[in-house]
Amino acid sequence: MHPYVHPQRLHHPHAAGARPALMRFDDFCFAYDDVPVLRHIDLEIDAGDSVVLMGDNGSGKSTLLRAMSGLVHPQVGTYRFDGRVVDAASMRDPEFSRRLHQRVGFIFQDSDSMLFTASVEDEVAFGPSQMGLSAKEVSARVDDCLGLLGIGHLRGRAPYNLSGGEKKKVAIASVLAMNPEVLCLDEPMAALDARTQEWLLGFLKQLKHAGKTLVVATHDQSLADELADYFVYMGDFHGYADRPHVHVNE
Ligand SMILES: Nc1ncnc2c1ncn2[C@@H]1O[C@H](COP(=O)(O)OP(=O)(O)O)[C@@H](O)[C@H]1O
Ligand SMILES: [Mg+2]
Repeated sequence: MHPYVHPQRLHHPHAAGARPALMRFDDFCFAYDDVPVLRHIDLEIDAGDSVVLMGDNGSGKSTLLRAMSGLVHPQVGTYRFDGRVVDAASMRDPEFSRRLHQRVGFIFQDSDSMLFTASVEDEVAFGPSQMGLSAKEVSARVDDCLGLLGIGHLRGRAPYNLSGGEKKKVAIASVLAMNPEVLCLDEPMAALDARTQEWLLGFLKQLKHAGKTLVVATHDQSLADELADYFVYMGDFHGYADRPHVHVNE
């Protein structure tokens, strides 16, 4: 195996060793039942990085995003977030898992699997309420996030009968309301119309320039090109070898 070199260090060698990576995988292995899906992953993502995961269907992109968010845990190897090991044992501590879920926001590919309340307003309020914020603070965050996503007019609507694009915006608002440091997005462009895709591209670029750490699994070429500081290629994907990248799960 090659010694791991963070792609940014190839371009900013003086940054090497300056501080530990925000997310760090060491020899991380994960299998569903007996089927290995993530094999010996070594990967570092620094705070503020904007990373695009690319790979064929079934190459493990969604599973890697789940691992970053603490939803699946390694059978071998480690994942550390901000220096702390995230595994089955640490996630059994409710305080630790709540904090991880607050710091790492995960936008699922399928918005329907994220939306479960009776109104858009309740949906966006849910995360901040769970964080123990005051009613006043929760309501301020709901207003901010509805405004940021341009969905204030939907606040009283039931999430389940919104359009696909509206659901995606509600899902993003409900995650941003927890003010996460990292945003993991799984195929965010899938099933959106061209106009909503264009909007989302601009929105994610704004988040990137605001310094959010972004990890995005996508097949969308223009999203990948415009967003990526570097790529993580998964499996036997050999996209454009000339772009800064690391290769995992080969
Ligand atoms: N919940 C699950 N149970 C069993 N196998 C799964 C589950 N989720 C994904 N897999 C398998 O893991 C592999 C990687 O899937 P996934 O991470 O979804 O890849 P990608 O997002 O790159 O398409 C696939 O072979 C898939 O069938
Ligand atoms: Mg997937």
